[in-house]
Amino acid sequence: MNATSYFVQSYAKINLTLDVLGKRADGYHELATVMQTIDLYDTICLLATNEDRVSIACNRSELSTDDNLVVRAAQEIRKRLGLTRGVLIELHKRIPVAAGLGGGSGNAAAILLALQRWWQLPLTANDLWSIAAELGSDIPFFLTGGLALCEGRGEQITPMAPYWPSSMRWILLLKPAIAVSTATVFRNLKASDYSNGTWSKTVQTALQTKSLLQPADLHNSLERGVIEQYTEVAQARVAMLEAGAEYVRLSGSGPTLFTMFSTLTDAINVQQKLLMLGYEVYLTRPIYPG
Ligand code: C5P
Repeated sequence: MNATSYFVQSYAKINLTLDVLGKRADGYHELATVMQTIDLYDTICLLATNEDRVSIACNRSELSTDDNLVVRAAQEIRKRLGLTRGVLIELHKRIPVAAGLGGGSGNAAAILLALQRWWQLPLTANDLWSIAAELGSDIPFFLTGGLALCEGRGEQITPMAPYWPSSMRWILLLKPAIAVSTATVFRNLKASDYSNGTWSKTVQTALQTKSLLQPADLHNSLERGVIEQYTEVAQARVAMLEAGAEYVRLSGSGPTLFTMFSTLTDAINVQQKLLMLGYEVYLTRPIYPG
């Protein structure tokens, strides 16, 4: 007999690097990206219902729709296995939405894993991966989380041994007050933004061999376009540098920017300055769920 509720936390990610190698025949872009889950999470509570459907209640009402990836993930599982069990998904968002932090993708992966465990489903790891990859390019990463190199559309995951340099211990995120469409950001790429994957491979090797990582290695092919197109992001970047950040990078397709510090004191100093300027800022660190 299953419990009537199931509780799960769903973490965000940052992209340490993001190489866009080129455009593919299917319209997607070929990527190499090093991702890490971070200690910023949404809370999900699954409640059993007597109705033969999936419903959602979210603290951000615009996300309480059947289009939400969590609803689509749960519906896909019910469809594949011919299940009639009803579930209400209560979703408490803390991760900024459409921000380059993978919040929606992480939520979808969290639902797949939660239903698998709660309902004790006969799905293999490969079944979960294929459902995840069909729902979105970033979702397979969140099935394991931690530190990984992601290739292809983003769905080909090579897990990496947990290691994080002490110089990057504290991660400061700044979410500019705009939403950015991932599809638009990819559409605005220029051929000169493409790379051959070197940045991600260099960072992967440096982390695996615990050797020195240079801020200059933290390259994101999408950053130029986003900074040029959105003045809010360009201004926020300058504000972070003026507040004392040594370097600033875009996470994913943005608009969230991040910088990192070895000491909590330095991170808090910069955070305070940015908060005084009215920016939405989060101080976080890497996390290994499970
Ligand atoms: O896979 P997902 O639905 O998250 O992707 C959102 C959009 O981002 C895609 O429709 C596509 O325009 C763009 N994208 C891309 N190449 C990728 C991943 C996403 O062009 N590897």
